[in-house]
Amino acid sequence: MKQVKPETAIVRKHPSWIFQVVTAKKNGRPNAMPASWCTFCSAEPIMMAVSVALDRHTHELLEETDDFVLAFPNKEQKEDVFYCGRNSGENVDKFEKTNLETTPAAEINTPLIEDSVACFECKKSGSIESGDHTIFIGELSATHVSEKYTEKIYTTKGWHEKGAEGFKTLAEITGGGQ
Ligand SMILES: Cc1cc2nc3c(=O)[nH]c(=O)nc-3n(C[C@H](O)[C@H](O)[C@H](O)COP(=O)(O)O)c2cc1C
Repeated sequence: MKQVKPETAIVRKHPSWIFQVVTAKKNGRPNAMPASWCTFCSAEPIMMAVSVALDRHTHELLEETDDFVLAFPNKEQKEDVFYCGRNSGENVDKFEKTNLETTPAAEINTPLIEDSVACFECKKSGSIESGDHTIFIGELSATHVSEKYTEKIYTTKGWHEKGAEGFKTLAEITGGGQ
């Protein structure tokens, strides 16, 4: 093994899954933020965690709300994911500026994103300070899948330069099936 700088080793985590973190204040407009620092973190009950930088609008919303949604975007939502990752909900209504559409959740106030490969409704159960991020943890209250889309997109290390083209399905990355 060769010792290298952290960024040289970290880049090997790619491809990395992307979730859209959906948040909404009660009676406020919903917001979507792509996040790849996201994971399942408990099996019984099923819980999920997402690490959100302190300066994100999503951070402010997650501090104020009781629930959030994690959604796997489908391959046709690439451009919209890119837009959501390059703009802040503090300044724009991302659901107005993109083709993304919301649909009501079953158990929580925050809506789902229509046509997501899968959506996980989470009731916020805690948070942990983590350097310049906060890890928000939620317990699953309901789950949904698309009957139309099954292929989610991954972030590749090239998305910064390539824009939405840097987001690829597993089949596109491997050149074969999943
Ligand atoms: C593929 C991808 C993954 C990202 N992962 C994270 C993440 O895990 N945590 C985070 O805080 N920001 C992450 N970001 C950056 C936010 O999505 C971006 O700053 C966004 O514009 C913040 O939106 P908001 O201000 O509306 O919350 C990611 C962006 C992209 C495109």
